[in-house]
Amino acid sequence: MVTMTNSAAVLADPTAYAAAVEQASVAAAAYYATGESALDDDAYDRLARGIAAYEAEHPGEVLAASPTGKVAGGAVVGDVPHTVPMLSLDNVFSAEQFATWAASLERRVGRPVTAWSVEPKLDGLAVAARYRDGRFERLITRGDGTAGEDVSHAAGAVVGLPERLAEPVTIEVRGEILMTNEQFDQGNAIRTEHGGAPFANPRNGAAGTLRAKDRAYRVETTFFAYGALPLPDSGELGETLAELPHSEVLAYVAGLGVHTAAGTDVAPVLAATVEEVQARVDAIGSLRASLPFGIDGIVIKADLAADQREAGSGTRAPRWAIAYKLPAVEKITRLLAVEWNVGRTGIIAPRAVLEPVVIDGSTVGYATLHNPADITRRDLRLGDQVMVYKAGDIIPRIEAPVVHLRTGDETPIDFPESCPQCGSDIDTSEQRWRCTRGRNCRLVASVSYAAGRDQLDIEGLGATRVVQLVDAGLVADFADLFTLEREQLLALDRMGETSTDNLLAAIETARTRPLSRVFCALGVRGTGRSMSRRIARYFATMDRIVAADVETLQRVDGIGKEKAAAVVAELVELAPLIGKLVAAGVSMTEPGATPPPEPGTEAAADADPEVGGEAGAGAGGDGGAGSTLPLAGMTVVVTGAMSGALEKLSRNQMNELIERAGGKSSSSVSKRTSLLVAGDKAGSKRAKAEGLGVRITVPEEFAELVGAFLATGEED
Ligand code: IVH
Repeated sequence: MVTMTNSAAVLADPTAYAAAVEQASVAAAAYYATGESALDDDAYDRLARGIAAYEAEHPGEVLAASPTGKVAGGAVVGDVPHTVPMLSLDNVFSAEQFATWAASLERRVGRPVTAWSVEPKLDGLAVAARYRDGRFERLITRGDGTAGEDVSHAAGAVVGLPERLAEPVTIEVRGEILMTNEQFDQGNAIRTEHGGAPFANPRNGAAGTLRAKDRAYRVETTFFAYGALPLPDSGELGETLAELPHSEVLAYVAGLGVHTAAGTDVAPVLAATVEEVQARVDAIGSLRASLPFGIDGIVIKADLAADQREAGSGTRAPRWAIAYKLPAVEKITRLLAVEWNVGRTGIIAPRAVLEPVVIDGSTVGYATLHNPADITRRDLRLGDQVMVYKAGDIIPRIEAPVVHLRTGDETPIDFPESCPQCGSDIDTSEQRWRCTRGRNCRLVASVSYAAGRDQLDIEGLGATRVVQLVDAGLVADFADLFTLEREQLLALDRMGETSTDNLLAAIETARTRPLSRVFCALGVRGTGRSMSRRIARYFATMDRIVAADVETLQRVDGIGKEKAAAVVAELVELAPLIGKLVAAGVSMTEPGATPPPEPGTEAAADADPEVGGEAGAGAGGDGGAGSTLPLAGMTVVVTGAMSGALEKLSRNQMNELIERAGGKSSSSVSKRTSLLVAGDKAGSKRAKAEGLGVRITVPEEFAELVGAFLATGEED
């Protein structure tokens, strides 16, 4: 359930109150003008709540400059009058507050509200777009709600606002202009190329872009309509619009060719009860992190025109709509340092060390920085105040430095001149830097990875043992494990007879592991457990994998052109290691998998490449045809704790089971998910699946569905 702490700044006396009003007014003015506020949204909201609390207790002391009760916090901009005021929205922060608000609205209207429109609260800027006889005429910002600024010059670069409507109507469409994540990245890249400072976040980017004139470059934004109203000479359309339910107004506007949120995962939906509204609120909350644009809440509106009319509006906000705010997912904090970590394959990846900050309920101390070019492109400096984004399970990321908060004490970020792991040279020819020793740089890490539970599963071969083996010069790659001799092991520190014999026995078992695990142990980039299984089941033998060209590899489900090319290139590099493994007698086949037909044969001509692969894999499971498999063609996600017959299965084993039963396993829920197996304590994935209408099953039911495949699993 989405709830948010309703914390407020505590203002002890009139001086603190006056200072808070001043700070909030300055921040609001900057926010609505250029988007360059010194406060993040959360800090501003806390300040505004503190001011409101003080004013409630001291009604005689309210200052004229106070942002409370004003649209846009009183930031007055613009001279184009709005025909009907552009109002703001009141906020709620929890299910309870929403239910209380809904009940008070129903009391006011005098009957139950049975149709609620539940839609995303788009995190951008409110604008009104006027069309006359179907032609675009003017774009106006909200300003102070009664008059806004003419920003028509910017309309050409706003996606979703057509020059001509599908019908020659005179109408004002209202909505939000924002930057999608992609537009933000592109916008910042173009901007910094032209020597400009990056925008701190997409919202600032949209604000700055809308007001900018005479830029030498074009930056796109996107418009989402959330309402429409007639203009003085709209004719009959005025009466029609006044009677239509809000949901039909949105559909009408979309039909005119204006962009709405209808095609997105968080499309407006109608709910009949407060409970249904809450379910959709939760679903939108859990979809937030995966959306390609920012939302900062959910807007809930009484859908029927009569309900809206009877509820009426206050000076600041309508009484028939409410913003259900989601927790802030962006905070400003300081960039303290950049760490350089070397991955298994020798990739040198920067990581930002941040002054710890609580975002969305968890403390964030680190954020990803993709590569050195990313740092340069975004002009990040040590000591910078940076805008950090973290939502749901996603890894925190730095959006950009907040350039207007620079003090001049910031210093450049040093890039390593040699590999921080082994001191070798760095290959800087690609965007992602790499140690020239490649995977050897991380020999210990790559041998440990190969011996890990999801790869060769060699019990007793932890990192400390691997270090010993590498230091003693016994292992230069993981193939060397298979030629270790008893005496060599006995000569190592803390290796008695029993541990030596146990380790040798574990290595012996590893020699017979299926191809999927051996292939996974190679650590080819982009081929984790699940992908390795798909590759092994498709090709059935290592020889065929190695012989596959870019085109053939793409027949494996989930491999696109780029990944296929990368895999082929890495396999060339790995050929000597694979040769050593073969020579050491390591298994190179996938039990039960049927190899694909040779190209050019009759069977190949009949076979659908994708189905061919999956059916081949399935045939390995039960020896039957692919089409009889219970999960054929299905994408299955597992979440929560498994129970019953599935209780002891690890996630990896669950995924193997799904694939044996003909399905495809995935770790994230999307529109393409066919089934979610939700055990106890299933969290956001369940809510997301509910929101998307994905079929959900419990572990016991799932065990029945795939029962025949449970016992045929590979022993772990
Ligand atoms: S309706 C009279 N619907 O949120 C009702 N507003 O915090 C006016 N916003 O000023 C607004 N998404 O800029 C509405 N789906 C949505 C919205 C939305 C974002 C913005 C809008 C409004 C602000 C209030």
